[in-house]
Amino acid sequence: MLQTIESLKDLQGKKVLVRVDFNVPQKGGVIRDDNRIRAALPTINYLTGKGAKVILMSHLGKIKWKEPDPAKIEEMKKANDMACVATRLGELVTTKVHFCPATHGEELAKAVADLKDGEILLMQNTRYEKGEEKNNPDLAKEWASLADVYVLDAFGSAHRAHASTVGVPTILKQEGKPVAEGYLMVKEVDNLTRCVEVASSDRPYVAILGGFKVSDKIKVIDSLLKKCDKIIIGGAMAYTFKKAMGEAIGHSPCEEDQLDYAKKCLEEAHGRILLPVDSIVTDSFEPTETRTIKECEGGIPDGFQGVDIGPKTRELYKKAILEAKMVFWNGPMGVFEQKEFQAGTLAICEAIRELKGQAFTVCGGGDSASAVKQFGYKDDFSHVSTGGGASLEMIENDGHLPGVDVLR
Ligand code: 3PG
Repeated sequence: MLQTIESLKDLQGKKVLVRVDFNVPQKGGVIRDDNRIRAALPTINYLTGKGAKVILMSHLGKIKWKEPDPAKIEEMKKANDMACVATRLGELVTTKVHFCPATHGEELAKAVADLKDGEILLMQNTRYEKGEEKNNPDLAKEWASLADVYVLDAFGSAHRAHASTVGVPTILKQEGKPVAEGYLMVKEVDNLTRCVEVASSDRPYVAILGGFKVSDKIKVIDSLLKKCDKIIIGGAMAYTFKKAMGEAIGHSPCEEDQLDYAKKCLEEAHGRILLPVDSIVTDSFEPTETRTIKECEGGIPDGFQGVDIGPKTRELYKKAILEAKMVFWNGPMGVFEQKEFQAGTLAICEAIRELKGQAFTVCGGGDSASAVKQFGYKDDFSHVSTGGGASLEMIENDGHLPGVDVLR
């Protein structure tokens, strides 16, 4: 059963451990996009407003523990130090934000004990602990011992069965302590569930998939084939499908080992999969002045690779999108990081803008969400998810995520 933070009683002075997803893009402590921090503010402000002692935990980046050289592990830790996030959070809230550089032991316990009602403590990166990703029971036990109440607001990490997302709430539930979902979590799960359950009033349901690899999206394609009326495919993965249809794709990226899978999908889809009919192609991916960029209909000649959908495809896709009552989009149509190859991804954004108020439209996080924000279309969507991997896994697993399942 869903328990929200508003159903938590007597929060004054309670130690509330909140797992947030503050895995923000940053380099050298400079944060490029603080959207994930802002997205957790409603939950944080609600809890501090009720006088709770709010202990925040999140991962940041990746620490490759298989690395044999301890100096390199230290470098990775330094590159993913959470202190910059505490500073940014301090600018966004009115209450005091403390940062604890420790992830276990006396220093952390003392920081929690010193916390005053209504204040916030952000713990160092959970991935500084080797046991986090392994859901180590001793680590989960130590973190659980810090809390009277647990709140999950980290939708972007809810597909990870880690100590902070699954281990801690499991222990607290066994101890009879309250566990609940924050505002962001509830909003994300509600919106993505609508894309999974598909009411008849939400049809036609159109999915737009892009990105690099077919192999990364096999499970999501299988799931969407069962649910959607149309699947629009763009991005590099479209070329594996085009080759499977026997078309020339020049030097476009192709996963040879996925050709049979692509053929099978096309057969099963009975015309419900839309593929590019033309492409923007280039002879060099490097943005040199001498490279040739051209539009190309049908097959792509040798020496060229497809880097965006072409103008006819943009029209074709737009028409299909404008007929939809519900749209789920994950993955850009081209290499939108380069200006010359943005038109396809922009055309999808434009079509969604035209649909505003007439259809339920979800952008499933990741690169497409970055594009939507970069191009200024965020407010045109019914929902832009903060979780790329998590929203895809929700679609793949019919609404189930480890972090959600443990709470509900
Ligand atoms: C994300 O950015 O998708 C989430 O924070 C999860 O991060 P991860 O893929 O490193 O587990």
